Amino acid sequence: MSKTAKIIYNDKTYELPLVEGSEQEHAIDISSLRDKTGLITLDSGYKNSGATLSKITFLDGELGILRYRGYPIEQLAEKSSFLEVAHLLIYGELPTTEQFSNFTTGITRHSLIHEDMKRFYEAYPKKAHPMSILASMLCSLSTFYSDSLTPKLSPEALATTIHRLIAKTSTIAAWAYKNSLGHPVMYPQNKFNYCENFLHMMFAMPTEDYEVDPVVVDALDKLLILHADHEQNCSASTVRMVGSSHANLYASISAGVLALWGPRHGGANQEVIQMLEAIKADGGDYKKWLAKAKDKNDPFLLMGFGHRVYKNFDPRATIIKKACDQVLKKLGVNDPILEIAKGLEEEALKDSYFVERKLYPNVDFYSGIIYRAIGIPTDMFTVMFALGRLPGWIAQWKEMMENKEPIARPRQIYTGAVTRDYVPAKQREKGKVLVA
Ligand code: ACO
Repeated sequence: MSKTAKIIYNDKTYELPLVEGSEQEHAIDISSLRDKTGLITLDSGYKNSGATLSKITFLDGELGILRYRGYPIEQLAEKSSFLEVAHLLIYGELPTTEQFSNFTTGITRHSLIHEDMKRFYEAYPKKAHPMSILASMLCSLSTFYSDSLTPKLSPEALATTIHRLIAKTSTIAAWAYKNSLGHPVMYPQNKFNYCENFLHMMFAMPTEDYEVDPVVVDALDKLLILHADHEQNCSASTVRMVGSSHANLYASISAGVLALWGPRHGGANQEVIQMLEAIKADGGDYKKWLAKAKDKNDPFLLMGFGHRVYKNFDPRATIIKKACDQVLKKLGVNDPILEIAKGLEEEALKDSYFVERKLYPNVDFYSGIIYRAIGIPTDMFTVMFALGRLPGWIAQWKEMMENKEPIARPRQIYTGAVTRDYVPAKQREKGKVLVA
């Protein structure tokens, strides 16, 4: 097996080392390329560029494999819990009983947010999108915890910041929902576990008793596990990139939330439901909508289909589809858009346009249907994704800091105007100067 790759340029041969990962993935290490040859590489969207060496998540898009720290996602989704997975991602190992108790206690004890932050909600319009509230509030946490602003935190200060982030994100998210309804916020309660607490803050009212449904808790926990990390995706790369400037952890996570918001990334789960609703309102003729998705003159895409990395199937979608059926059955929900979703999937999977382009349902295709069934409003779907992805972002930031990675600063090939002289406006307007 070759240990180097050769580049021939201007009749000279340059050897570049190969790097091998623990799952036999190979990369050409081009870190010396510019020094040796004066060349850079060009890779729009980083489709072929590895940005880092990482020990957190392995995925194989061709085989539909996803593992966190070596553990298959199927096993974690079935047997583990969200906070156990959070510990695994952030610290590299599943926790011992004592480590888990310290971790969960630390999170439980930091779930309140500063009372002054509660006042921030009053200033947001009622229709404010909860993703923008979440990002702003997370960044605002840095104004309250100035002790955690330096990037190189002691292990104790880092642990506290991690506890604060995991705990308070759930409170901030639930309160954003309560605020949008004009309802009083519900304070977190230490007797609940993480998912129970979130559901309590979302759906309980001071006027009546609220019982958390264990079926809903299980489904939510599974969804959060499935979303917990996905290696160097758009939002994780954003967190690493912002963090590489040594911006603090709150700022880096807030940037990750904003990257997730876009419909090509985490925002797709909201768009899937809106699309399915539109198909239902249009009489349920999903074949017509498939034709729209295939029409290159129509900007419409089949939301929840396609993935940058998975070109066979998304293992998370397989687990979610099964969970979706179970939850709806157990809750006795008969959602007509589930039938539309299934019909759409069946039709697309035998359509040559989708088959040739390897477009399969992704994690977002069915997650929205579960969220809907458990009462989460559509514009909170991407917030739910952010809750799940938070441990992954923290793990990615922590690894980037521990690796002492340099500030991320890509290069470019400039294609704009070549040098030209400045001419004052009056002369330009007189038409004395032609466009260069
Ligand atoms: N519907 C119809 N056609 C599609 C779709 C879709 N959902 N996705 C891709 N295509 C087509 C493209 O038009 C392109 O066709 P062409 O080769 O004829 O030009 C081809 O498939 C390849 O698509 P790319 O855009 O090159 O694929 P890329 O890897 O860059 O994009 C992405 C992946 C962004 C996920 C894309 O498939 C998409 O926009 N999907 C819909 C949004 C979505 O579900 N996003 C969630 C992703 S999962 C996540 O972030 C958790």
